[in-house]
Amino acid sequence: MAVIWYPGHMHKAQKQIKEVMPQVDLVIEVMDARIPFSSENPVVKELRGPRPCLKVLNKSDLADPAITAQWLNYFSQQEGVRALALTTTRKGEACKILSLCREMVPLRAQRGEPVRTMIMGIPNVGKSTLINALAGRAIAKVGNEPAVTKQQQRISLGNGIVLSDTPGILWPRMENEDSGYRLAVTGAIKNAAISFEEVALYAADFFLLHYPQAVMARYKLSELPVGAIELLEAIGRKRGCLRAGGVTDIHKVSEILLNEFRAGQLGGISLETPAIYETSDEDCGEPVADD
Ligand code: G4P
Repeated sequence: MAVIWYPGHMHKAQKQIKEVMPQVDLVIEVMDARIPFSSENPVVKELRGPRPCLKVLNKSDLADPAITAQWLNYFSQQEGVRALALTTTRKGEACKILSLCREMVPLRAQRGEPVRTMIMGIPNVGKSTLINALAGRAIAKVGNEPAVTKQQQRISLGNGIVLSDTPGILWPRMENEDSGYRLAVTGAIKNAAISFEEVALYAADFFLLHYPQAVMARYKLSELPVGAIELLEAIGRKRGCLRAGGVTDIHKVSEILLNEFRAGQLGGISLETPAIYETSDEDCGEPVADD
């Protein structure tokens, strides 16, 4: 489901998360490993206050492992933060976070009290998949409504860890145009303001520049196309996406490129490196008034 965030939604989400925060010892922030910058919301830092935060770079199966390693190093240097790359859809992986959770809140563990954890993140990063994997069963399907429910249930994960059954849902970066494109390339947002073809052209440009070998291998190209539109045309010829008169069906090719990237068929590709913080605006949406 596509969610369009308005300032009212953001305010509501932030307010509700603040209300449940006193019952939370550790925040688990889920991000997409391909776009950690754009799928992170800096408001988490403010919401969690002094509580530690475990940053989960999820969908690491789809990301470039060398760049994921850079991100893990980057986040681990932040105060109160540990970072972990995860492929939640792979059986048994999710439980890697359990020992980290205990290590990160040693006092609770020493006192024999459970570590109370809460998952947060923008839509589509894998929050509900992670909750279900940790719980070992399907908890009610998490919607992408900009809210946490007040009737949160605690799920005991064993080994002294409890998890809120509904995640804190936050908004993606919205001020930065490139983030909008990257979120759309991964499928995290389905923004009608950006057409499918524009998103595919953005992706094609990026792949040509950063992953030329991956596109050449995937689409069996003998030489590298000079630009994004030429790449889409070359894929169209290879895949027979031609309209009458031999014109490339750009919509169909756009679908092929984006769907194959999202399914990991081009190999592990990351759209952002930590160097992005040097060039991007740090703002993450409308400032939200406290009340
Ligand atoms: P959310 O609660 O944060 O909104 O995300 P959710 O768990 O619903 O996951 C969104 C999509 O991401 C799901 O695919 C899910 O299977 C997929 N996903 C979650 N973790 C991983 C991972 O580690 N690797 C990969 N490759 N995929 C992962 P879906 O149901 O097919 O949804 P959609 O892709 O059609 O939106």
